[in-house]
Amino acid sequence: KRRIAILTSGGDAPGMNGAVRAVVRQSIASGCESYVVYEGYEGLVQGGDMIKEMQWDDVRGYLSEGGTLIGTARCLSFRERPGRLQAAKNMVLKGIDALVICGGDGSLTGADTLRAEWPGLMDELVQKNELSADQVKPFRHLNIVGLVGSIDNDMSSTDATIGCYTSLHRICEAVDAIEATAYSHQRAFVIKVMGRHCGWLALMASVATGADFCLIPEMPPKEDWKTEICDIVSKHRKMGKRKTIVIVAEGAHDCHLEPISVSAVDKLLKEKLGLDSKVTELGHVQRGGSACAYDRMLSTLQGVEAVQAVLDATPDIPSPVIAIVENKIVRKPLLEAVKLTQDVTKAIEAKKFEEAVEGRDAE
Ligand code: F6P
Repeated sequence: KRRIAILTSGGDAPGMNGAVRAVVRQSIASGCESYVVYEGYEGLVQGGDMIKEMQWDDVRGYLSEGGTLIGTARCLSFRERPGRLQAAKNMVLKGIDALVICGGDGSLTGADTLRAEWPGLMDELVQKNELSADQVKPFRHLNIVGLVGSIDNDMSSTDATIGCYTSLHRICEAVDAIEATAYSHQRAFVIKVMGRHCGWLALMASVATGADFCLIPEMPPKEDWKTEICDIVSKHRKMGKRKTIVIVAEGAHDCHLEPISVSAVDKLLKEKLGLDSKVTELGHVQRGGSACAYDRMLSTLQGVEAVQAVLDATPDIPSPVIAIVENKIVRKPLLEAVKLTQDVTKAIEAKKFEEAVEGRDAE
């Protein structure tokens, strides 16, 4: 019987539990044994009880739980080869040769590195007498399958990452709540949202709430951004708006790549327009709470597909990442998806903003 393990890695995202549930149950339904690894790659490096066999009932109730119930971590030791050697040994000891990872691009790249090194790691374990040749013999290849779990929706090659729509929904609810008080006092609110280098959450939240202005890394404001914001906000006020909402992505910057902070925008609205302005940083409330229906559906369908991808894998097929493109669950080459994602960041760093937007749109 094949043994398939799943772990969650990087920042938690709503829907990760749905992915764990789907992978566990689909593995069992496909006649495989199912394992979870606690605390991300940390659990793989530690081994022992951190890698646990799961039964069908163990994931009951997972769909509606927020965060990740099997834990996650940003593991430093797995980034170094000795950590990966230890992880490989623990996997062999548990009889696991297929790993599904639900995480962001960094976590998925780490997994593919493990796969690339795997035959060498097996040889090294034998040379160092950590494992016998007979022990490693059935484990000549490692299957890796990626599921993209992140609220940021920052991965190329997929239309949505697991968690992004829940987070967007939370942001919209928070902005709606803020709007009620802003309207009452005729105030301005400058709201900071998460997303790391990606402006998707900020942009979509701005569209969904009808914000006055939005600042995102992929399309910075004009050189004279202070005038641009003031012109638009005062135009809206002259049209009769009693409130002002400016949404700022955490990675927002000007066209010289200088960060634009919420406090700078707040100061601008106060000093130049005389508005009673407040700052709200939404923080981790954007990441918590139970997943919306879309993320439950996405994580379930993609988890099922991930197990299928493990069962279809051959050594010559590159590791896949499970994506959703035009509403269809599809497999894409993992490393290509990561590279395209990194290309967008590089385009922004090179101040090629239009190229960055096109790159993301094309994918
Ligand atoms: O990647 C998800 C995310 O929430 C980003 O939006 C944010 O930049 C980062 O993680 C925050 O990480 P932490 O919770 O470790 O501070």
